[in-house]
Amino acid sequence: MKTCTTIAAVRSELASRGGETVGLVPTMGALHAGHLALFAAARAENATVVASLFVNPAQFNSASDLAAYPRDTQADAKLAADAGVDILFAPDAAELYPDGFATWIEPSGAAEGLEGAFRPGHFRGVATVCVKLFSIVQPTNAYFGRKDAQQVAVIKQTVRDLNIPLTVRVVETVRDSDGLALSSRNARLSPSERTTALAIPQALATHDPVQAQAVLAAAGIHAEYVTVADLDGPTLAIAATVGATRLIDNVLLEETSR
Ligand code: PAF
Repeated sequence: MKTCTTIAAVRSELASRGGETVGLVPTMGALHAGHLALFAAARAENATVVASLFVNPAQFNSASDLAAYPRDTQADAKLAADAGVDILFAPDAAELYPDGFATWIEPSGAAEGLEGAFRPGHFRGVATVCVKLFSIVQPTNAYFGRKDAQQVAVIKQTVRDLNIPLTVRVVETVRDSDGLALSSRNARLSPSERTTALAIPQALATHDPVQAQAVLAAAGIHAEYVTVADLDGPTLAIAATVGATRLIDNVLLEETSR
């Protein structure tokens, strides 16, 4: 695996490979089995696999959340290499947002409500960095996890609206054996908070927002939202804070009613 920290280096590496298809997996690092599922899907479908590793400051609306985001570049690089990633693009913030940077993607539509309401500016940051990554890597396919269902909807909308020539590929949420969706944020949960957090997948398993709310309340969890929204199909979505850790998860309702 070749690690590139500059846009010029990643472009030159891609040009020298000349592969017919390029799969891009955008990540913020703190890689776990959910990311490995994205790498595996990309590896199976593309000649060249690029993973980006960039904790995007533009999508955090709280400085403490950004500071607390787990970072371990060496461990991430090893996981990516072992998963068959060909190129790891790990720029610093000045490479993607140099002095004078002043052009932003402002998604509305799919970006409204849910995360968009509770994290103002979040999807502006996500859409902007993803469009930059798409422009730098020019992938055939870009891979995103279904756990961030609204993010998937926003990225699909952005790709469609801006006529970006790539296919957005969506990979199912990976869960621990007890049902908790894998997330880089899980590392911040204490053992007892982790047990409490299991109420989130249990609430989703009811497939009903009222019952889900009751399951969360019984576990002492205050949810920011428990709602059904159209996120690539009718989806029961939850955002809740356990201790100091904000978690999101969702279930596609169609799947279970088939
Ligand atoms: O899902 C994430 O990890 C991030 O939002 C993404 C897509 C890598 C953009 O920074």
